[in-house]
Parts: sequence; structure tokens; C-alpha cells
Amino acid sequence: MLSATSRSSASSLHLKSTRHFHRKPSPYTITLYIIALFALSIFIFIYYSKDILDIDDQHKPFSSQSHQLSDEQVQGALSSYGLHQCVEPTAKYKAALGSDHYITVRSNGGLNQMRTGISDMVAIAHIMNATLVIPQLDKRSFWQDKSKFSDVFDEPHFIRSLQGDIRIIRELPGELVSLPHARKHFTSWSGMGYFEEMKQIWKDHQVVHVPKSDARLANNDLPLDIQRLRCRSLYHALRFTPPIENLGKKLVERLRLRAERYIALHLRYEKDMLSFTGCTYGLTDAESEELRVMRENTNHWKMKKINSTEQRIGGFCPLTPKEVGIFLQGLGYTSSTLIYIAAGEIYGGSTHLKELTSRFPNVVFKETIATEEELKELTNHASQTAALDYIISVESDVFIPSHSGNMARTVEGHRRFLGHRTTITPDRKGLVDIFDKMDSGLLNESSSLSRLIIKLHKNRRGAPRKRGGPPPGLKGRARLRFEEPFYQNPYPECICDSKVTTNSSHSA
Ligand SMILES: *[C@@H]1O[C@H](CO)[C@@H](O)[C@H](O)[C@H]1NC(C)=O
Ligand SMILES: *[C@@H]1O[C@H](CO)[C@@H](O)[C@H](O)[C@H]1NC(C)=O
Ligand SMILES: *[C@@H]1O[C@H](CO)[C@@H](O)[C@H](O)[C@H]1NC(C)=O
Ligand SMILES: *[C@@H]1O[C@H](CO)[C@@H](O)[C@H](O)[C@H]1NC(C)=O
Repeated sequence: MLSATSRSSASSLHLKSTRHFHRKPSPYTITLYIIALFALSIFIFIYYSKDILDIDDQHKPFSSQSHQLSDEQVQGALSSYGLHQCVEPTAKYKAALGSDHYITVRSNGGLNQMRTGISDMVAIAHIMNATLVIPQLDKRSFWQDKSKFSDVFDEPHFIRSLQGDIRIIRELPGELVSLPHARKHFTSWSGMGYFEEMKQIWKDHQVVHVPKSDARLANNDLPLDIQRLRCRSLYHALRFTPPIENLGKKLVERLRLRAERYIALHLRYEKDMLSFTGCTYGLTDAESEELRVMRENTNHWKMKKINSTEQRIGGFCPLTPKEVGIFLQGLGYTSSTLIYIAAGEIYGGSTHLKELTSRFPNVVFKETIATEEELKELTNHASQTAALDYIISVESDVFIPSHSGNMARTVEGHRRFLGHRTTITPDRKGLVDIFDKMDSGLLNESSSLSRLIIKLHKNRRGAPRKRGGPPPGLKGRARLRFEEPFYQNPYPECICDSKVTTNSSHSA
């Protein structure tokens, strides 16, 4: 759960190669050449001054990209970057409909960890040529949700839409239930070789039970068809149930009635996260103590003694509501900006929240925009309310997560897939440095602060770039752990350059 690696991501800019003509230049071509050069320099000037204007224009913080993209518009949005979605299998791809071997799964974690884990299990079932039994959802995590798969996901759609890939059944056939099952914790971030080898299990067992689904599959160095299957599974097959999808759409429409555009803010200032990360900056002693006790008593959280100051300086803490307020103002958002809080209960409730709402009064929650009646079915089902937040976040004009995590990563990846909708990922380490300078009076809230914040996030706005590899200097399995997650950025496997055919290449 805690792998708070902040990553600075350089967006790559592809320049078209210029063609050269080898001919004796006539005065006419020289004139043309000079005109062309002139035009080019104007183009370059406009290009860069656009960037400069973007930085200085305090009143246009929303990107110029059009909002509310329907599915039909998605290809258009991607094509403006010279890109398109590419999730179709290659010519050599075959369904793996193994019907004599079965994989049962218990998904673990919150909604998004389960969704990405389930998509990985779909790919693993394909590699191992096994029938996948509809996964069980996590009922024991912090969220204590009793929902089953079909309460959250459109189960018939899931089965149907993957029928060209793997066989999925609702339940293990009766005659197999009493047979001894293999129980296998797959090694995290494993590649093809590992799962090919796992097929040995079938020599002795017909059923293998997998007790954990998170991050079992590597991010990189997998066949293109496996990567695309992951995308088909996550972006197409794992749709939420019709009631959740419909309510999500309705709430997005209501937000758009309130304001032309809105920010979805994943304010991960929730009790479990603060306790888990040991981040107590800005909290009272009593609050810090409550969080410490919770951490001590949660067995599966390994880190017990945490120095909050060091966590914060390292950039491992979720931004506080106050810090988010300064950050958004620094980015140039005006106080009237509509902000949807995509999160559970904010720790300390209005006490901490008011440090954000004092700057941005137009803050709304699902409880603000939905009726009690509409939410009745969903409350006490954390996965289902998280699904609403997911839909509203994916559809937002700008998505801003206050902390890294599965929700932040998965929403960012989906938004990339849908046309690189703006996702602003705070550079928490850099921001803490700025906030500490403010605390000690070295910096004031001013336009120079704003310029600093904008500059820091210039390359953190979700623009197209290929998925990053491991950070330099890491070897062995640690390397796999710290790669940019596949579902955070499915480019280049599921987002392709329209000028290049990539169906025969393997992932970078
Ligand atoms: C997958 O399993 C089925 C039997 O369940 C078998 O007929 C088929 O040949 C297998 N496919 C591969 C690629 O091994
Ligand atoms: C926590 O870390 C900071 C910075 O390294 C240090 O100044 C402080 O003394 C540490 N606090 C404790 C309680 O160890
Ligand atoms: C911050 O503002 C105060 C009062 O407005 C001023 O006295 C001080 O010099 C400013 N500090 C910086 C670093 O600009
Ligand atoms: C790409 O796929 C198409 C059909 O899906 C096929 O005709 C073509 O040969 C493939 N290209 C490469 C480079 O494999």
C-alpha cells in the first residue's frame, strides 16, 4: 500500500524530422527558404510564448482541452496528440479457454487495488490457460465492505466482454469444490517465465486458489497482447453496475450545472492514511496520539515508529487541506472554482477542512450533490462510494490527488487512456520545501510563489509521455517495485502513435 514514490516526469516532445532537398539552390528557392525559416521562427516564438502565457495567466488555470468527452470524442482527443487507443489483440493472439483448470482469487485492498489486481488475474488466467472464477472482494480491509463482485461490477458484462480472451464462470463447479486446492501466493511483479512455470501446478491440481491479487504481474517486459488484455479488462470489462454508473453520470451532470468545469480533488486526508504514513504535521497532540495508537494496533502495517518530520520532508505525506488550498491558489485557481472532494471521511472533519474551504468555499461532496435517497444503497459500502468517486474523477476537467496511491494512479492512467485529460500530480517534496519557507517567513503568498508552484508542476499535468522505467541505481526486484505502474500510464502498449504501427513490438 505505501509506496509513495514521487516521480518527476519529463514529458517528451516529438519533433517531426525535417526533410532535406539536395538540389542546386536557385534564388527563388533561397527566398522560399528564408520565408520558411521566418515562418518557423514565428512558430517557435508562438509555441514558447504560449508556455510563458500559460504560466503567467492567473485566470486561465484550466487547460484548453475540451471537457466532458464522450466515448466517441475520445479518439478525437487522443488524435490531437497524434495518438490513438490500441487495445485490440494482434493477429497471432488466441483466446485461452482452458476449461479443465480453474483459478479462484481473493482480491485484496481498496476498490482500485482490487480492480487493477483483477485485471492482472485476467491476464494471468490467460497465460496459464485457466478458467477464472469471479473473484471474491476484500471484506476485511480497513474499509470493512461486505459487497460482492456483482454488487460493484457489471458481472454479466465482465464475463461477456472477455469471452474472446478467457473463460470466466460465476462459481466453481460443484464437483470441484470438495477437491483439494493448491493455494498459491504468486510472487509480486512476476513475468511470463514465472507464470509459464506455474503451469506445473496443473499436473497435480485442477484448482489453484490465489489469496492476494495485488501487483502480482510485472509492469514491463510482457508480450504486447498481455498488456492489451490488461487494458481491455480494466477499461472495458470491469464496468461498474448500471445503478452505480447511472448515478455517477447523474452526479457529473449536476456538477456541470453548478459550474462549467470542476476539479476532482482526491483529498486523501483520511484517518487510515494519516495513521499509516505517520504524518502528524498540523495536527493536535491528541490527534497524533490517536493515529499512533491506531497504527500500533493494525497488525499488517509494518512500520510502527515513524518520524513525522522526516516523512514530510521526504514528500511521503498527503498534503493537508491547508496545503492543498495554497497549492490550488498558487496554480491560479480562483476562489469560485468548483471542487468535488473525491474521498471518504476527512480526518477531523470541518476543523481541518475549513483551512481549504476558507480559500475555496465552492467545495462539494457526494453528500452535497446527491440526495440521501440516492446514496442510501451505497453508504456502508466503501467500494461502491469509491466507485462513484472514481467515475466523477475520471470525468472531471482536472484531477488532483493530494497523495499517491492506487486511486490516484488508476484515475491518472484512465485519464491518459481517454485522451490525456489534465491530471496535476503535486510534487509533494518540492511543495513541502516551499511551505516550510513560508512558515519561516522566507516566502510570502505572492505572484512569485505562484510562479514557483506553476514551474514545479509544468511537467506534471498528465501530458503524453511513455511510461517510466525503474528509477536509476536500483537492481534486482527493488527495480520492479519502483517502476512506474502499468495502470498509471498504459502508453505505449494501449496508447499508440498514429504514425507508427506497433502491433509486432514488445513493450519497452
Ligand atoms: C487450453 O486448455 C484447453 C483444455 O482445457 C486445451 O484444449 C487447449 O489446447 C489449451 N490451450 C493451450 C494454448 O494450451
Ligand atoms: C525527527 O527527524 C528530525 C529531522 O531529521 C529531527 O530533527 C528530530 O529530532 C526527529 N524527531 C525525533 C523524535 O526523533
Ligand atoms: C512578506 O511580507 C511581509 C509583510 O507584507 C514583508 O514585510 C516581508 O518582507 C515579506 N517577505 C518576503 C520574503 O517577501
Ligand atoms: C499488424 O496487424 C495487421 C492486422 O492486424 C497485419 O496485417 C500487419 O501485418 C501487422 N503488422 C506488423 C508489423 O506485424
